Amino acid sequence: METSLDRARSASPSTASAPAAAPGVRALGPGIGAEVTGIDVGAGIDASAMAFIQDALNRYSVIVLRGQDLTPADQIAFSRRLGEMRTSFYNRYAVPGHPELSVVSNIVENGQAIGIADAGMLWHTDASYLPTPDMYTVLYGLEIPQRDGQPIGDTIFSSSWGAFEALPADVKARIVTLRATHSFADHIEKKRRANNLKRAPLTAAQKAELPDVDHPVVRTHPVTGRKCLFVTEGHTSAIVGLDAGDSDALLKLLWEQIRKPEFQYRHSWKKGDLIVWDNCAVQHLAVFDYGDTPRRLHRAGIAGPVPY
Ligand SMILES: [Fe+2]
Repeated sequence: METSLDRARSASPSTASAPAAAPGVRALGPGIGAEVTGIDVGAGIDASAMAFIQDALNRYSVIVLRGQDLTPADQIAFSRRLGEMRTSFYNRYAVPGHPELSVVSNIVENGQAIGIADAGMLWHTDASYLPTPDMYTVLYGLEIPQRDGQPIGDTIFSSSWGAFEALPADVKARIVTLRATHSFADHIEKKRRANNLKRAPLTAAQKAELPDVDHPVVRTHPVTGRKCLFVTEGHTSAIVGLDAGDSDALLKLLWEQIRKPEFQYRHSWKKGDLIVWDNCAVQHLAVFDYGDTPRRLHRAGIAGPVPY
């Protein structure tokens, strides 16, 4: 989906190497994923650079800014420019002194996990189990595991609008008016059943705090107007109004659509990568191939509208 504007920007001598160069953008994947260059987030971003980032995010759904050197305060200041930051209601792993950021990590210090170790094991979009799911996620790589000199612990993104557009017409017609239930309790139960739960089971109070919610099976992107598939393997428990057999069969078909490689961009992390993704436009999956090799990232969530 690279445009002539992108090609012109990528080819511009002014974006060749100097960090102070004008912003540039380079497509990385099939309709989603782009590297944004020439922006030093820690140095502060002016209105035109922020508009450039927002435009790239709207066009590519996942953007990567490499080589960033950020304090937690820098990441928070940047994230606030994208909207209202979510201060987690279920966050035992906040960055100390910064409740807006959570630690995603497998590191154990003094017998205590320092971060969430089991995030993203199934395809999902962040916080879809809330009435107002996260619009954007801002994830910053501080410690990236390697094997034989190559990064491991990739994150895979799949285009929820590309996946919807490619569905057969009869399936599209069938699903556009349906709603589905998203359930945090069901998500934790799926992890427990798969022996992948690396946190305590939900307490009754936590369950009460996060009741199941219904969202459209196909939501409309609030900025681009694209139709996006909005059922996820991680958090969607049922299609509203269908019996269990029909609901399971339809969910399986839609989850398989998201899993198709032609809609995906796979990100291979480097320390200093700052990734912003659009949770309406993409689903994502973490690759757990690094075992105990230390991995540490800081995550911020930006609240979004009620899906429609
Ligand atoms: Fe996630």
